[in-house]
Amino acid sequence: MRQGDYLLTVPAQDADFVVGNPPYIRSDDLLPSARQAYLGMCSTMTPGSDIFVGFIEAGLRSLKRGGVLSYIVADRWMHNSYGRRLRGLVTDCYAVEAVCEMHGVNAFAEDVSAYPAITQIRRSRQDGAIYAAATERFDQAAAHRFMSWVQGGTKRSEDPDFRAARLPGWFHTEGMWPSASPERIALLETLNDAFMPLEDPATGTRVGIGIATGADDVFVTGNEALVEPDRMLPLVTTAHIKSGHLDGHDKWLVNPWDDAGDLVELGAYPQLEAYLVTKTDRLARRHIAQRSPADWYRTIDKVHPRLRGAPKLLLADMKATIQPVLDPGFGYPHHNLYWITSAGWDLEVLGGILLSRVAQMFVEAYGVKMRGGTLRFQAQYLRLIRVPAPSSVSPSLAGRLRQAFKMRDVGEATAAALETYGLKHLPD
Ligand SMILES: C[S@@+](CC[C@H](N)C(=O)[O-])C[C@H]1O[C@@H](n2cnc3c(N)ncnc32)[C@H](O)[C@@H]1O
Repeated sequence: MRQGDYLLTVPAQDADFVVGNPPYIRSDDLLPSARQAYLGMCSTMTPGSDIFVGFIEAGLRSLKRGGVLSYIVADRWMHNSYGRRLRGLVTDCYAVEAVCEMHGVNAFAEDVSAYPAITQIRRSRQDGAIYAAATERFDQAAAHRFMSWVQGGTKRSEDPDFRAARLPGWFHTEGMWPSASPERIALLETLNDAFMPLEDPATGTRVGIGIATGADDVFVTGNEALVEPDRMLPLVTTAHIKSGHLDGHDKWLVNPWDDAGDLVELGAYPQLEAYLVTKTDRLARRHIAQRSPADWYRTIDKVHPRLRGAPKLLLADMKATIQPVLDPGFGYPHHNLYWITSAGWDLEVLGGILLSRVAQMFVEAYGVKMRGGTLRFQAQYLRLIRVPAPSSVSPSLAGRLRQAFKMRDVGEATAAALETYGLKHLPD
């Protein structure tokens, strides 16, 4: 028996088993001197990490080859930004063998606010993995049935007290690991292996977010004739795509950028100059202007010349469902809108796939869920949606996807998308 600070002990790399119930201490609650010392010892901890991240790393590093760690610990690190380095370490050197999520189970003697999962990780090459989720009724008898299922051969469990699935592998990335039912986790893992991400140089597909100005009251206007016509850019906002189609042309961006991506010379645009000068105080107060005072009239993001006039799919952030809308090249997207452009895809066919519940499943598993069921999509998660190669979509399926997209028919889009992915159904 040894007593000491687990994170400050250099591990010997000789353990066959590491079993633990690590403490949860948020970074803000650590003494600064202790946090500093932990950061020096644990390369996966960042200034924002909870202490349990260090406990997972220290446990993993003490394993000998073939050794296995099993912790009951919060699974936040699998899905958040401070877990990135730990996911990287696990991906590079270890194998996730089992994750048994116990969010609904009263697992501890005292109430603990963290959502725990029993997590088993081995020092070996990644092979198959098990993902399980216990229901509130999960008890000792269910635990025994779960262990029999683990040792048995079926792919999915039918037990009323837990859901469980066998995965052919694990998510080989330090990027976000998805959060969903075991059946969906298994499907996502299979799709991740079989298909390419939506954003892909091979199909010339790009995903981004619309322009943030830092002063919409100055740069966004309903007056098309406010300044020189070639400085007025039609803008598309969330309100314009609410109906599922692009409606109304009543907003313009006062565009201070030229086609090379530089700020225009104000002297060349007397009306623009006169207008912006009346707003100098407001514009110069912005953080972005203070960083570079000569650029006081810039918008936070640049206007990308390639996005101007390009056909694109637009998606509004903070919606319960993913609703792509086609802009044939009319406007420039405002922030709160994500855009997708593609050289290789017929955007209406891609729109049908993105309208389907298959795409919705990706967004639900990776996106951040807000109260009331709305989802924060974030471009980084949209990029992760896996899609078949455009060339693999048969003309008849392409026709069905296109039609479903035009009619906003989610059911038909899902049916056609499932066929496109070679799937029979979508698990709950
Ligand atoms: C969640 S409790 C688990 C206790 C016990 N292993 C169990 O399962 O009942 C976490 C324990 O870790 C201890 N602890 C916190 N920080 C520690 C550190 N840096 N090194 C070693 N132990 C620590 C706490 O005092 C607490 O007893």
